[in-house]
Amino acid sequence: MKGRFITLEGIEGAGKSTVAAFIERTLQAAAVEVVRTREPGGTPLAERVRHLVLEPGTEELSALSETLLMFAARAVHVANLIRPALARGAWVVCDRFTDATHAYQGAGRGVPPALIDELAQAVHADLRIDCTLWLDLPVPEGLARARSRSAVRDRFESETLAFHERVRAGYQALAAREPRRIHRLNAAAPLATVEREVDAVVQQLLRDRAP
Ligand code: TMP
Repeated sequence: MKGRFITLEGIEGAGKSTVAAFIERTLQAAAVEVVRTREPGGTPLAERVRHLVLEPGTEELSALSETLLMFAARAVHVANLIRPALARGAWVVCDRFTDATHAYQGAGRGVPPALIDELAQAVHADLRIDCTLWLDLPVPEGLARARSRSAVRDRFESETLAFHERVRAGYQALAAREPRRIHRLNAAAPLATVEREVDAVVQQLLRDRAP
């Protein structure tokens, strides 16, 4: 049986890691092999690219360079971890994927969506995302949560409120375009409520899986 590919999306501080851990536990309880991973990163080489792109350096990194680095990391991650896991029947739970590039580099930085689509086509044309959970919450709340977690801010956490508002609007547009794949969850709700909704989505995926 081929595995399933689940992605998590949202602005900073939306609680993706907590939800990813919850999905992992839920799938393990159903005796499913789970591979939990993240982007940018997920393999040793892709994690090195993550470090390059997130660290607040002194040298200018254009929106185009940032986009290409995201896809360079993604190409390594897809080839070396995601595809092999799906091929052996594991379910992959990935914290961010190409929707994040549309939201951050596209809506946030103004990179043309057609260019992002073209790079996505080259890197993972035949890879289907079965389900995306978009953890949505107001930007000030998300940033406050993210900033209380760590005193050191990465290049994205240091961005303006307006930037993060564009990112959130970007996710909103993606969800409106693909309502069957992208499920919006109210990430400002109590954790138990979020987990109940996530559980309903995961149980449905488990019921839908091929025999
Ligand atoms: P994380 O801290 O939630 O793991 O995400 C790392 C940062 O990378 C986050 O601020 C969003 C950003 N990012 C992009 O800008 N584009 C992308 O394609 C991905 C995967 C992440």
